[in-house]
Amino acid sequence: MSAVDYAERIPNNVNLSNDKRLQRALEHWLPAYLDWWNSVGPQVFQNNEVYLRTAISTEPGGWANFGYVRMPEYRWGIFLTDPEPDRVIPGGDHAGKPVWQEVPGEYRNALKRIIVVQADTEPASVEQQRYLASTAPSLYDARNLFQVNVEEGRHLWAMVYLLHAYFGRDGRDEADELLARRAGDADKPRILDAFNQPCTDWLTFHCFTCFTDRDGKYQLGSLAESAFDPLSRTCRFMLTEEAHHLFVGESGLERIIRRSAQLLRDAPNGDARAVGGIDLPTVQKYINYWFSYSLDLFGAEVSTNAADYFASGLKGRWREAKDFTEHSALNQTRAITHVQSGKLVDVDVPLRNAMNELLRSDYADDCARVVERWNKALEDEGLDSRITLPSTRFHRRQGIYSDSHFTPEGELISAEEWERRKDEWIPSDSDREYVQSLMKPVLEPGKFANYIAPPRRGIHGQTVEFEYVRTDG
Ligand SMILES: [Fe+2]
Ligand SMILES: [Fe+2]
Repeated sequence: MSAVDYAERIPNNVNLSNDKRLQRALEHWLPAYLDWWNSVGPQVFQNNEVYLRTAISTEPGGWANFGYVRMPEYRWGIFLTDPEPDRVIPGGDHAGKPVWQEVPGEYRNALKRIIVVQADTEPASVEQQRYLASTAPSLYDARNLFQVNVEEGRHLWAMVYLLHAYFGRDGRDEADELLARRAGDADKPRILDAFNQPCTDWLTFHCFTCFTDRDGKYQLGSLAESAFDPLSRTCRFMLTEEAHHLFVGESGLERIIRRSAQLLRDAPNGDARAVGGIDLPTVQKYINYWFSYSLDLFGAEVSTNAADYFASGLKGRWREAKDFTEHSALNQTRAITHVQSGKLVDVDVPLRNAMNELLRSDYADDCARVVERWNKALEDEGLDSRITLPSTRFHRRQGIYSDSHFTPEGELISAEEWERRKDEWIPSDSDREYVQSLMKPVLEPGKFANYIAPPRRGIHGQTVEFEYVRTDG
């Protein structure tokens, strides 16, 4: 079932042509999608040839094709990984029973909501990033941005397929709504807060792809463990593409950090800004900001919804089927630090109610490994400064810490102290202005803006000097 016919209007590996009603419904959604892409997708280079990978199958190793494509002609196929024979529900009350191929009536609304919330993030990030290419630090970076954008578009297709195929009329309505909301719009914003934040500079873009796309990795990972098999198979394929988005963010930040260290060697008074770099304290503040915003996406620390989703099998823990032997998560607890009468106190919470927190700590551990690799780069460059990951309590706007204030180390502080010191920890207006002042396009192949080091390698065996975006039209 892995072969994909690109001559079809909607390329897919789900035998769409066997279901004429569904095919017609999706063909009806297609022009609305293209309108959306043309109006709030990338605002420059839409008609230039870009060196992009296109998914052509779900076979490991051979799933993508690389070549020049104009973005509006990129083919957004629908892909589900091949079914795993005899797959059983990995966790919760129904663990061990056969997975569902249809949506059970009692879980219909919850499942639809889960899919809509995930789906909403896909077009949101494209909208947030739509002006970035006009200040690309290189053609290589512009290409990476566009790769992320076209794939987020494909992820939207993947989720809309589920809504159309399994949720009837209200699924179709939800699919239409996905194109009606807009990132940052006052009247019709995207569902989650991080997806309404502006993304107008490349430091933000790399933080976003490193930290917020990584949230996506963990959300998709928990949905890949779903009892609803079509959702699991959709998410498994999305995760293969997501790995590149994370690479873009992690390596992009590493190149900014490395460049900052290199510039410092010749900088008067140890000030990287004096020589046009982004100084490490500023990079650290952006990391603090985006890490904390991304933590909010995991939901409340103690949550009955999360317990219900786990119990019913709609979501699983990260690598539920592979890494756990006990799949009920009953009669177990997890200690979660609460704020009680001005003190931090550990409270034991039933494990099922702590599922959001569990996933959030898997995510935070992953982020900590990324920070270690950046610090290795600083060490290589002979610098003593290090990047740190703030406490998961720091700068939270959702959950049990959102009513209190914390230092990046996680110490409880007063609202006055927060006000007085917050510019040390998260980007101030003047930091943002400074970063924005560096955003000038560099569009000559092989050349890079001063604040970012070139990558060590190009994309898919091409050189760093390769013309990743054809600027002559
Ligand atoms: Fe995505
Ligand atoms: Fe992504």
